[in-house]
Amino acid sequence: MARLTAGVATSHVPAIGAAIDLGKTQDDYWKPVFAGYEWVKQWVKDETPDVVILCYNDHASAMMLDIVPTFALGFAEEFEPADEGWGARPVPTVFGHPELAGHLAEQLVLDEFDITIMNHMDVDHGLTVPLSLVFGQVSEWPAKVIPLAVNVTQFPTPSADRCWQLGEAIGAAVASFPEDLNVQIWGTGGMSHQLQGPRAGLINREFDNAFLDKLIGETDDLRKITRLEFLREAGSEGIELIMWLIMRAALGQKVDMLHRFYHVPASNTAVGHLVLKPAEES
Ligand code: DHB
Ligand code: FE
Repeated sequence: MARLTAGVATSHVPAIGAAIDLGKTQDDYWKPVFAGYEWVKQWVKDETPDVVILCYNDHASAMMLDIVPTFALGFAEEFEPADEGWGARPVPTVFGHPELAGHLAEQLVLDEFDITIMNHMDVDHGLTVPLSLVFGQVSEWPAKVIPLAVNVTQFPTPSADRCWQLGEAIGAAVASFPEDLNVQIWGTGGMSHQLQGPRAGLINREFDNAFLDKLIGETDDLRKITRLEFLREAGSEGIELIMWLIMRAALGQKVDMLHRFYHVPASNTAVGHLVLKPAEES
């Protein structure tokens, strides 16, 4: 059977992708950011998954705003890096896993999640920057990827509790897939940041670190965070943290924390990064 072996959370700032692609990772500004990802880059060499279920958001760059699915699951054989206005990032094509994606979709619909099936989808920095941070600069990605794009761009975005429920359903669906696969789930985006308006540049270390504490420990409060609270405490783009909740819920009741990193700022964003694995008893 397939096994969900670990969860990874990370911010997905586009400027991080540019720093990697332009060879600036050792510049004074970027060095401390990339130092926080050395651990995961080593760890993943021994723990390379067969498949990553990658919860991210499109930034109206690949999907535009004509159609805004709440939860969109990638069914395609391959996904190309999106052109976000400066040309596509020079990173490999992302290969999917249509069999596991089909199983997930079937189980999720049976569980009454009305997900959107994406037979074609380009993937923006929300997905490719985390791949670069974890796998480095490679000629091909070492794992298949099932993109799960979540609407955080246009109201109404899904609630924290709905994302939690979806994560639980994904965890159960992976466990019932008959093939022996090592599967990881990743949640990307956040942490606190606001890119526009009078509060542009907002960062809330206290909120972010309490959020990290709860992901590792007592999770009940996380499901109750409202859209307004995300907006008020973590800025207009802080809502991206709902993708972390899908990741966390999929791992079961208790987790062991393998790595934790927090750094302010990278571009306009507080960078957070966690590596978790399901605790033995959960
Ligand atoms: C920034 C962060 C994001 O998550 C994003 O999607 C776009 C920009 C930033 O910090 O600049
Ligand atoms: Fe983003």
